[in-house]
Amino acid sequence: MTSERRYYLTTPIYYVNDKPHIGHAYTSLAADVLARWKRMSGYQVHFLTGTDEHGQKVEKAAEARGMDPQAFTDQVSQAFRDLAARMNYSNDDFIRTTEERHKRACTALWKRLEERGEIYLGHYEGWYAVRDEAFYGPDEITEKDGQKFAPTGAPVEWVREPSYFFRLAAWQDRLLAFYDEHPDFIMPQTRRNEVISFVKSGLTDLSISRTSFKWGVKVPGDEAHVMYVWLDALTNYITALGYPDENADLWRFWPADVHFVGKDIVRFHAIYWPAFLMAAGLPVPRRVFAHGWWTNEGQKISKSVGNVIDPVALVEQYGLDPVRFFLLREVPFGNDGDFSRKSLIQRLNSELANDLGNLAQRTLSLIQRNCDGHLPAAGASDPADAELLDAVSALPERVEEALSRQAFHEALERIQSVSRLGNSWIDAQKPWSLKKTDLERMASVLRHLHTALRALATVLQPFMPDTMTRMLDQLGVPAEARDLAALATPLPDGTALPPPSPLFQKIQDEPA
Ligand code: ME8
Ligand code: MG
Repeated sequence: MTSERRYYLTTPIYYVNDKPHIGHAYTSLAADVLARWKRMSGYQVHFLTGTDEHGQKVEKAAEARGMDPQAFTDQVSQAFRDLAARMNYSNDDFIRTTEERHKRACTALWKRLEERGEIYLGHYEGWYAVRDEAFYGPDEITEKDGQKFAPTGAPVEWVREPSYFFRLAAWQDRLLAFYDEHPDFIMPQTRRNEVISFVKSGLTDLSISRTSFKWGVKVPGDEAHVMYVWLDALTNYITALGYPDENADLWRFWPADVHFVGKDIVRFHAIYWPAFLMAAGLPVPRRVFAHGWWTNEGQKISKSVGNVIDPVALVEQYGLDPVRFFLLREVPFGNDGDFSRKSLIQRLNSELANDLGNLAQRTLSLIQRNCDGHLPAAGASDPADAELLDAVSALPERVEEALSRQAFHEALERIQSVSRLGNSWIDAQKPWSLKKTDLERMASVLRHLHTALRALATVLQPFMPDTMTRMLDQLGVPAEARDLAALATPLPDGTALPPPSPLFQKIQDEPA
């Protein structure tokens, strides 16, 4: 099995300080689509998500609710698990940092770093933002109304306590060399540039333990300290593969192919994480992809503003697959984007109901009526055919090319262009009027449209799994002929097709 192609992708593990919102759903959705695409392309895939349950932020959230932190994290973690099920994510594992396997991995990584001389005991004094669980340098702090803030807007407090340090400063040059040798490690390019200039401006050693609270993994050999929550959290990506047992069955998935993250946590993934790994003598992930930030109708999403978008409510209102489609279609992956109901409705109506839905409905009803519900055979070829068929056969490669860059919006645009082409082609070929004049040509036209619909439904499965299952059922494609390789084999002429029913509903309601 040495030639087996493997793909390991992860989402951030989400803080359990509050219930999940659209931002969390978004990152996991992107990872899910890529996981499904890779499986469909013949890869062995491991797709990990989970929850980040230690640290001061979570401890405080539990306290504020008068709950014991473990009971509190059990409850909120379950909400993230429920979301994953509701959104139809195909994650292979769901990790919680309060699990034993994770404490074991953190402890092992710590010891390894210590043995290699990468950790020393000292004293930390500086700014800390509990909201970000991050340390900030004096030059990053601003003041407003007597309160100090991090560049993220999170309030900071002055922390002074004994602390273990990781020798991050010593890794500065090796990190820069690594970024240089791996131009695709941090994507998109804008984030890469930010990280490089931050590292060039000078790294200081990183405080990796705290003594002022208890909710964390204990430092081996010095239980007055708990590990810094980001060292703990990042380790989840190897815990899930069985670390420190490098003979574990899943360890073959390391290094990760992509860590999906939001732009808020690039620094941790693109600086600290590769430094920890290199220092431990472990391979470094191939890519960290940082997507942008969603706003709600132009406003920053925040609990205090009260405009948090609940993904479950959205799905209840518009349907799961339309929401999955919209989130990845609307905004170039990597850019910030604004969530607006108006554009959601517009896209669902024009691209799903009109372009794709109508093309399927028109074609399949004609096959039902004019071909007795059986897949017609293509007759003599016509010069007009190539326009459609060439675009159709190029589609899987073109989607693959976009997805290899995590350009979900481009993949969808490429798919959409074939569905638009199908509509203009059916209008030009007018199979409905060929019934009386040229039955053989009518059969060919419908057959080619069927070929186009099958390709569209196949490549859209990762984005809209349930709806595309229905579409492939209606197209008469057997369950075992729905992956990318199967597209090379045409369905047998005469395959019986069930009567079609609409795949997408048009949304009538006007946004408020
Ligand atoms: O940072 N738009 O967890 P977190 C887009 N536990 N994405 C958003 C978003 C928005 N408005 N809001 C949140 C943590 N996200 C750590 C991670 S990983 C080892 C530890 C998404 O609960 C985005 O992916 O604060 C962001 O990076 C993540 O949620 C932060 O989730
Ligand atoms: Mg956050």
